[in-house]
Amino acid sequence: MLSIKNLHASIGDKEILKGINLEVKAGEIHAIMGPNGAGKSTLASIIAGNENYEVTGGEISLDGEDLSELAPEERAHKGVFLSFQYPVEIPGVSVTNFMRTAINETRKANGQEEMPANEMLKVIREKSELLEIDRKFLSRSLNEGFSGGEKKRNEIFQMAMLEPKLAILDETDSGLDIDALRIVANGVNKLKSDKNAIVVITHYQRLLDYIVPDFVHVLYNGKIVKSGGKELAHELEEKGYDWIKQEQEA
Ligand SMILES: Nc1ncnc2c1ncn2[C@@H]1O[C@H](COP(=O)(O)OP(=O)(O)OP(=O)(O)O)[C@@H](O)[C@H]1O
Ligand SMILES: [Mg+2]
Repeated sequence: MLSIKNLHASIGDKEILKGINLEVKAGEIHAIMGPNGAGKSTLASIIAGNENYEVTGGEISLDGEDLSELAPEERAHKGVFLSFQYPVEIPGVSVTNFMRTAINETRKANGQEEMPANEMLKVIREKSELLEIDRKFLSRSLNEGFSGGEKKRNEIFQMAMLEPKLAILDETDSGLDIDALRIVANGVNKLKSDKNAIVVITHYQRLLDYIVPDFVHVLYNGKIVKSGGKELAHELEEKGYDWIKQEQEA
């Protein structure tokens, strides 16, 4: 589904990604871990099409289609979803209206009709129940005054509504209390299917007890330096990144 080959990217004259290779197949969950500043969020932003970064080499394709010339919204319409480490606030736009617009934009871009209002309400009800989101919350302005945990939960709600092909969740665990973590993880697990793929960026093995990855990758200084199964996350938790650093310097 997602294929990244020898990706290099910079901001200004600083090279941040230094040759990333990553293959994600439908039905898989991949976790990306790595120290602060390694380039994890940068990688996520570049997949989603953030134009602040300059891709200086390599390829990114989704189901065989090259994404490099596509704008962020075109990528979104093709089923790429990115949850942000720091979600933005949009005053005056309610959670429900934001969702309605996002869904209908995607449908329009794919040549489908708008979702009928009654169906929209039904889906919103179903998905908000799945993620245990309070009805009152849906009429509030997007992210305005939301607590950190509420923002994160709301993003997973957006993901549940949009049913993306490829979801990239950047530090979905940061700021979630234990109950919210479980709810969010359950939501993600329920959305997992053999037609979509999920990439989770996290610092803590804890999240991976709930969202069990098929593969774990360590991003270090702009490169994926180690890949393995879920046991790699445990190993990192135990040994820290010094272990990786020593290996890299050896
Ligand atoms: N817009 C920008 N301007 C300047 N430097 C940037 C910019 N975006 C990213 N960087 C730099 O690129 C490097 C990688 O940042 P990135 O946010 O991708 O790291 P990360 O792995 O997500 O870290 P964290 O675990 O702290 O979230 C950092 O050194 C960061 O300062
Ligand atoms: Mg980050």
